[in-house]
Amino acid sequence: MVAEVLNALRPKPGGRYADGTLGGAGHSAAILTASMPTGWLFGCDRDGVAIEVARERLAKFAGRFEIRHGNFAELTEWIPDASCDGVLLDLGVSSPQLDSPERGFSFQYDGPLDMRMDTQQLLTAADLLNSSSAEELARIFWEFGGERESRRFAKAIICQREQQKFKTTRQLAELIEKISARRAFRGRKTHPATKVFQALRIAVNDEIGSLKRGLNAAAKILKPGGRLAVITFHSLEVRAVKEFGRERTRDYVFAGEVDVPELRQPCKPELKWVTRKAIGPGEVELEENPRSRSAQLRVLEKI
Ligand SMILES: C[S@@+](CC[C@H](N)C(=O)[O-])C[C@H]1O[C@@H](n2cnc3c(N)ncnc32)[C@H](O)[C@@H]1O
Repeated sequence: MVAEVLNALRPKPGGRYADGTLGGAGHSAAILTASMPTGWLFGCDRDGVAIEVARERLAKFAGRFEIRHGNFAELTEWIPDASCDGVLLDLGVSSPQLDSPERGFSFQYDGPLDMRMDTQQLLTAADLLNSSSAEELARIFWEFGGERESRRFAKAIICQREQQKFKTTRQLAELIEKISARRAFRGRKTHPATKVFQALRIAVNDEIGSLKRGLNAAAKILKPGGRLAVITFHSLEVRAVKEFGRERTRDYVFAGEVDVPELRQPCKPELKWVTRKAIGPGEVELEENPRSRSAQLRVLEKI
């Protein structure tokens, strides 16, 4: 969604931008091109491989960017407060991550059950699967995957791992195929292990926790008038972005958990919505990249 992101962030010469999800640096290259000759980019990614690819792709913009390997939740540790005209978070996994069997993100290939975006992190999907209780696994599958058979799957995993620990994506995908009530999946669009794989990935990488901290960090590093563009891919991300937007665009605060109208205290909102209603990919992009079908862009502006 490069055109849509450029439209939202309006990069200009002299502007300063942060890309918290460099990936292959397609968006970053477009931002640096659109802000020629003096625009500046701070970029990070949790994935060391992506950092190397981005460095190469952005080499022609040398002297106009700083790249770091790290989580966007920590943007404020190296980017000054109120210094950026635009921040981009293009969430989720990248195609190179999904398509590399050795990264273990996909049930479509056999590989180690890894799923770490940052391979310096210790916890892998296999660790989680081999050490969590049935309750914890069921919670992960339900909360992060919306998997209706979460308890059954969790119990079966506990039984199976007593015979043999989980090591590979195929072991997990085959077990789910065998026991799922939706096992007659052949010829259907979604594999029965889709939700379990998504849930494990989100848990291993603490994706929702990072997103909540990343949104706070992004708001801090934006200048007044600066814009935050967030591209989400599933409902949990959408919910976190909407909740964050709702809180920061309010002109009142309330103490405690419940918003009682009589107890509201007026305050100045920190952000305003530019597009609360999601912008989707255009037809050409959908045709070229079917994985973009669930992408939704939302944009907020710092007041
Ligand atoms: C959809 S891709 C981004 C693609 C990128 N916009 C481009 O133009 O190529 C998502 C990237 O975000 C990274 N990522 C996801 N969560 C992250 C986080 N909390 N901190 C830093 N990077 C993260 C992933 O490692 C992946 O490389």
